[in-house]
Amino acid sequence: MKEDIIEKVLILNFGGQYDELIARRVRESGVYSMILPYDTPIDKIKELNPKALIFTGGPESVYKAQSPHLNKEIYNLGLPILGICYGCQLLCYELGGRVESVTDKRQREYGRTMVSFDTSITLFDSIPKESIVWMSHSDEITMLPSGFKGIANSANCPYAAIMNEDKKIYGIQFHPEVTHTEYGKAIIKNFLSKVCNLSGSWTMENYKRKTIRELKEKIGNSKVLLALSGGVDSSVAARLLEEAIGENLICVFVDHGLMRLNEGDNIENTFKNGKTRFIRIDAMERFYSALKGVTEPEKKRKIIGEQFIREFENIKKEIGEVDYLAQGTIYPDVIESGKGKADTIKSHHNVGGLPSVIDFKGIIEPLRLLFKDEVRILGKELGLPDSIVYRQPFPGPGLAIRVVGEVTKEKLDILRCADDIFTKEMEKEGLNKFASQYFAVLTNVRSVGVMGDSRTYEYALVLRSVTTEDFMTCEWTKLPYEFLDRVSLRIVNEVKGVNRVLYDITGKPPATVEFE
Ligand code: XMP
Repeated sequence: MKEDIIEKVLILNFGGQYDELIARRVRESGVYSMILPYDTPIDKIKELNPKALIFTGGPESVYKAQSPHLNKEIYNLGLPILGICYGCQLLCYELGGRVESVTDKRQREYGRTMVSFDTSITLFDSIPKESIVWMSHSDEITMLPSGFKGIANSANCPYAAIMNEDKKIYGIQFHPEVTHTEYGKAIIKNFLSKVCNLSGSWTMENYKRKTIRELKEKIGNSKVLLALSGGVDSSVAARLLEEAIGENLICVFVDHGLMRLNEGDNIENTFKNGKTRFIRIDAMERFYSALKGVTEPEKKRKIIGEQFIREFENIKKEIGEVDYLAQGTIYPDVIESGKGKADTIKSHHNVGGLPSVIDFKGIIEPLRLLFKDEVRILGKELGLPDSIVYRQPFPGPGLAIRVVGEVTKEKLDILRCADDIFTKEMEKEGLNKFASQYFAVLTNVRSVGVMGDSRTYEYALVLRSVTTEDFMTCEWTKLPYEFLDRVSLRIVNEVKGVNRVLYDITGKPPATVEFE
C-alpha cells in the first residue's frame, strides 16, 4: 500500500557527531530511515526488513580490539551497504583490508578537502569529477579487501571512497551528510535511488494519512490532554490530533513564567477560539519555587520536566477522565536525550525530565519519528499558518536556560525586556531572515560601568544569533556593527539592571546554541 512505510534504511550508529544528519538526508531523499545502535542483534535487523544499511562515523579506531565491531553476518544479508568515515574503515577492515593511523609523512585531513571522483560509478553519477568534501579522520585505508576498488581520492587520501560493485558495498571516507560536502546530497540520493533502486515514497502527505488513521484506532473515544506550548511541534501535534479525535482533545498551556515578553497572552489569543478545548494554567509561582537555588543546567531541565508532568496530573484530576497525555516530542529530542549510542549532549526536558511513574494510561507522541523540517512540511500539509509553522524555535525550559545560574523573577524580567528589544529590532530590520534563532541571554556576571556621574554594578547581557539548517551545527550570524551598536544602546538605556552588552561570536561546535 502506497501510504505505508514500505522502504526503510537502517543507520547503524557508531557514535559519530553527524549521525542524525545522515538520517535526515536519507529522508529528504524520500526514504524512511531509523538510527539504531551498531550492536542491534541481526534478528532484529532482519525483522525490520530494511532495504539498505548505512554505517555512521565514530570516534574510535577500527584496529583496536575494544572499538565497536559488527557481527560479520551483517555482510551476508545481501543488503546494499554505505559506510561513512568510521563505517567505511570498519567495512574495509572487517572484510579483510587494512586500516592504519595516518603516518607523519601524510597530513591528517580535517575540514574542506578537494576530492577527485570516478564519475563512471553509479554512486557518483551526475556529479563533477572534482569537488569539495568534508573530511574528519586520523586513520586511513592502506589496503583494500579483495573484490574492492578505489573510486575517489584526495591529495592525502588515496582511498577517499571504495566499492565492491557486485555486492553493492560502498565506503566513503568523507561526510556526505554535512552541507560543506558540495555534492553530498546527490551522493546519498544516488545510493538510495540508483544503487538500491528505492522509489522514495516517504512523504508527509502519506505520513499524515497514516498517523491520523493510527491515532483514531489507538485512542478510540478516549480523551487526550495535549501539552501545548505554542511552538511548531506542539501546534502540529494538536492539529493532527484534532483531525483524528476532534473535541476529545483538550489542549493545556502551562504558563511556567519562563516565556518571552507577552508570549503567554499571545498563545492564549491564538488557540482559545479553536475547535478544541483550551486551558491556560498559571503555574508561574510553582515553577519559580521549584527552581529556587538551582544553578546546574541539567538539573533545571529535570525540575521543569517534572513540574510539567505534575501540572498535567493536577489538571487531569480537575477535568476528570482523561486517558492519554500527548506531547510534541520530535526525533532529535529522542536522539539527544541519549537514547542512541551518542553521548547525551543536553536532555531535552520533554524526554529527559519524564518521571518513571506517570499517572496516565499512556503517552502519545505523534511526531516522535520526525525531524523538524518534516514537522514544518506536515504543518503546512495540515493547513497551519506560516506564523506558526515558521515560528522561531524556543526551548521547552524557556528562559530558565537563558538565565545563567539561579533563575529569579528579577533576572527574568530584565532578560525579557532586553530580548524583546533585540528580537523586535531584528524583525524591523529584516535581519531575522538571515538568522535561524536569535535571543538574549543574561549572564550571572556583574560588571562595573558608569552612567551619568555614577558608578554602576550590573549584569552583562549576551546577544546570540545563529544561522543553521539543522541546529546540530550552526554559525553565528554576521550582524552589521551599526545594528549591534543601536541595539546595545537601546538595551543599556531602556533596561534597568544591564550595563554591558556582548555579542556571541561562537559557532556550534564548539559551543551550543543555548548557553545552558
Ligand atoms: P543546543 O543549545 O542544544 O540547541 O545547541 C539546539 C536547539 O535545541 C533547542 N534546545 C531545547 N529545546 N528543550 C527544548 O525543547 C531543551 O531543553 C532545549 N535545549 C536546547 C535550542 O533552542 C536550539 O533550537
